[in-house]
Amino acid sequence: MNKMDYVGIDHMAAYIPGQFLPLESLAIARNIDVKKYHEGIGVREMSIPSYDDDVVSMGANAGLRLLRESGIDPKEIGLLIVGTESSEDRAKPDASLIHSLLGISESCRVFNITHACAGANYGLVSAIDWLSADSSRNYAMVIASDIAMYGVGSAGEPTQGAGAVALMVSRSPRLLGIKELATFSNSVYDFWRPIREPFPIVKGVYSVQCYLKAALACFKKISIDQNYDFVYHTPYPKLVEKIHHEICSLMGISLDERSAHYQEKVSPSNEFSAKIGNTYTASLWFALMGCIEFKLKNLTKDLDSKDENKGMYLFSYGSGSGAILMEAALSNYWVEMAKHFNCADDLINRATLTIEEYEKILSGEKLQKNNEPGAVKFIFSGCENHQRKYELINRQ
Ligand code: CAA
Repeated sequence: MNKMDYVGIDHMAAYIPGQFLPLESLAIARNIDVKKYHEGIGVREMSIPSYDDDVVSMGANAGLRLLRESGIDPKEIGLLIVGTESSEDRAKPDASLIHSLLGISESCRVFNITHACAGANYGLVSAIDWLSADSSRNYAMVIASDIAMYGVGSAGEPTQGAGAVALMVSRSPRLLGIKELATFSNSVYDFWRPIREPFPIVKGVYSVQCYLKAALACFKKISIDQNYDFVYHTPYPKLVEKIHHEICSLMGISLDERSAHYQEKVSPSNEFSAKIGNTYTASLWFALMGCIEFKLKNLTKDLDSKDENKGMYLFSYGSGSGAILMEAALSNYWVEMAKHFNCADDLINRATLTIEEYEKILSGEKLQKNNEPGAVKFIFSGCENHQRKYELINRQ
């Protein structure tokens, strides 16, 4: 892939809630061997939103950071798409609230896309099409924001999480160019959330089979380059390891070599998911940030190691189901853009919840342990006349 030829991601920025539950605490409370979580599922911590985090505030916080770090004027954004499956409103899009909070121009197309975990990815390819259709268009913003909760004591409980990632899409991307390679759609009930259900209904084993079917369908359509990095939608890291094992078989990689290939080409992208948990629409983008932050950390002064021409595959899966496989290539300025990510530091700065605090939060108690002195951020400040209100605060 020639990195200069494609529209793509100019910059990306994350918002991670300021508190987390260590999976050791969950294992003790549920009387489960912690190795099941650490080794069997591959998760160590999960981000828990506080009562003043929601899809809108988290998405707006990621968007605010994106604007500040990219230096792009919000008035230049002509398209804003929010991908989410945990919206609070069935009619008014979260995107319209975020549009207002970020001060984006009225001459902007603003909407949500719902397709389980793939909503933001459909948003990204739509934004790429929109930019490619007219050279007078400069920037589109795509936000992935989700709270992934299955409920106390459920099978999905150890795979919960929350977070948001905002992407700035441009025709001369400083971070990476993107090209769509293959797509897949097939109506199934593997994970769904009927109206008025507080949590999704999930058929765990079947959902894994559906994910695998979609991944194989997409990767079979291309000639796979083994030297690329592989970045997957990550409900939990162990699933990605299993899926990659099957993709290795398509590449003709022997059983003996598959673990090493996974370690080198996939595992860096699982680093954040193991500490944040599933974030549905945002999970692929946290995986991508993990992959890029890892490259940045391991940069040497040797310019060849900047990986400029090296490609990546990005695979997104949304239950229900739909999938997209994309190819990406780092741009010339990726190092300068990636230096802003700092997800690893954001994770270190979170406050630790006890199991009792976690259960109180899930039962609706307004408990707050955020460890964010001085943070300037949007919060959900309550409802008036059924209207959700938000404030920009400076946390002391
Ligand atoms: N030590 C080490 N490993 C252990 C262990 C121990 N003491 N005890 C169990 N394990 C292993 C098991 O052997 C198993 O490994 P394999 O999968 O290799 O067999 C693994 O831990 C999980 O054990 P179970 O299968 O018994 O776990 P479970 O029944 O509790 O369910 C789950 C696990 C299906 C992931 C469940 O957490 C779940 O339903 N999660 C939500 C659904 C999901 O994430 N689906 C993913 C595809 S759908 C999608 O991608 C969309 C999306 O984001 C939701």
